[in-house]
Amino acid sequence: MVKAKDVSDTWAQGVELTSRSPAFRDDPHPCYDRLRTTAPCFEDRAYGRVLLTRYDDVRAVLRHKRFSVDARRAGETSYMRRVAGTGVAEGRGDSAYEPPLVLLDDPAHRRIRSLVSRAFNPRSIEAMETRIEAITASLLDAIGDAITIDFIVDLAAPLPTQAILDMMGMSDAPRDDFKAWSEAILWGYDPERDARTQTRLREAFLGMSAAFREAIEARRRDPGDDLISAMVRAQEEEDRLGDLEIISLCTQLMVAGNVTTTDLIGNGMHALLTHPEQLALLRAEPQRAEAAVEEMLRYDCPITETARMPLEDDRIGACPVHAGDTLTASLAAANHDPEQFQDPHAFRIDRDAREHLGFGSGIHVCLGAPLARLEARIAIHRFLERFPRIELDPERPPERRALPFFRGFTTLPLRLR
Ligand code: HEM
Repeated sequence: MVKAKDVSDTWAQGVELTSRSPAFRDDPHPCYDRLRTTAPCFEDRAYGRVLLTRYDDVRAVLRHKRFSVDARRAGETSYMRRVAGTGVAEGRGDSAYEPPLVLLDDPAHRRIRSLVSRAFNPRSIEAMETRIEAITASLLDAIGDAITIDFIVDLAAPLPTQAILDMMGMSDAPRDDFKAWSEAILWGYDPERDARTQTRLREAFLGMSAAFREAIEARRRDPGDDLISAMVRAQEEEDRLGDLEIISLCTQLMVAGNVTTTDLIGNGMHALLTHPEQLALLRAEPQRAEAAVEEMLRYDCPITETARMPLEDDRIGACPVHAGDTLTASLAAANHDPEQFQDPHAFRIDRDAREHLGFGSGIHVCLGAPLARLEARIAIHRFLERFPRIELDPERPPERRALPFFRGFTTLPLRLR
């Protein structure tokens, strides 16, 4: 195997390996393929991280029992600190930073995950099916007989935001504010964030926290059958969730669950429209919708990478790793590893893509995966059903977000005929 340090000087590194670079944003896979075959544990000196691109290595990193996700345990100047939520911590505007679940190690992680799982469980998600159908139907009604639409603005963005607000018992809250706050908070994970981003982040945190604090107080006075009431109830049982923990969980569910699901629906629709034979297959056999969503998650996954830090020297496959290193596990590269998926750059809804790593793996595996799957299946199915002819708008090209790690479209103009 070529040692990472032998190639680092001549390879794209740092920001060039993120969606800030137009070529990488457009198609990262030529780069990932080259890394996977030549330097599967690539030392990215510009960012001071090790980038892993093989499926087996990425899965092993995610499932490793002793790797940390907690940026507070990382060195001051480490890449882990630069990306993993420290922007979010800085942006909060209060000193009592409560890291999101995804950045907590055990035992704190186990405790909070088990408490939130009681409220956010498969039954509560199944119960959302009728609601998601209703939200989708009303958004499609609003499109009516328009000839041109923006698929993101008109369907993919509002649906997941409204679904989570409904789950929280906040149906009438200002949906567009929650969407804008969620986007602003995601930019806190940008390694290149600047002072303006930081200010927006702070405002978003203050806005969202105030709204959730108010909702918690209202639920305490008048409990209902919603997620926030369930978390408040969990607070009253033996092992308590503190107010700050509930606010942090609500913020995380809103942020983690809404832009990502928008991106899944948007990326999925784009994949169908750029592969007309797959679109035709799904139209002819709509029972393939569930498998199609798994393939969308594999082919163009909304979260492209995540980070872990070994606390002692170790080894991942053939790659030695050291205590304090930031390991970047590329979910997008793993999902296109030919050792795992045959002909990986082909989008084929009839393949079995269920082993993809789009929702991660191990103890931090996505808590909201069943909700995201349900929303994507309903949105895409109902959209195809309602509109018999859909194409990309030839006059307005789609545009992708230039934010690292969160891959999706800011605009996806379509023509409906
Ligand atoms: C297509 C949409 C989604 C994608 C692609 C996605 C992806 C992911 C990934 C990759 C992780 C693991 C990160 C890591 O290991 O470092 C994760 C964790 C998480 N996701 Fe999602 N997610 C989606 C939707 C949702 C939804 C709808 C919710 C909730 C409303 C949600 C809540 C969470 C939470 C709470 C965690 C942290 C779990 C833990 O640390 O134990 N996600 N997600």
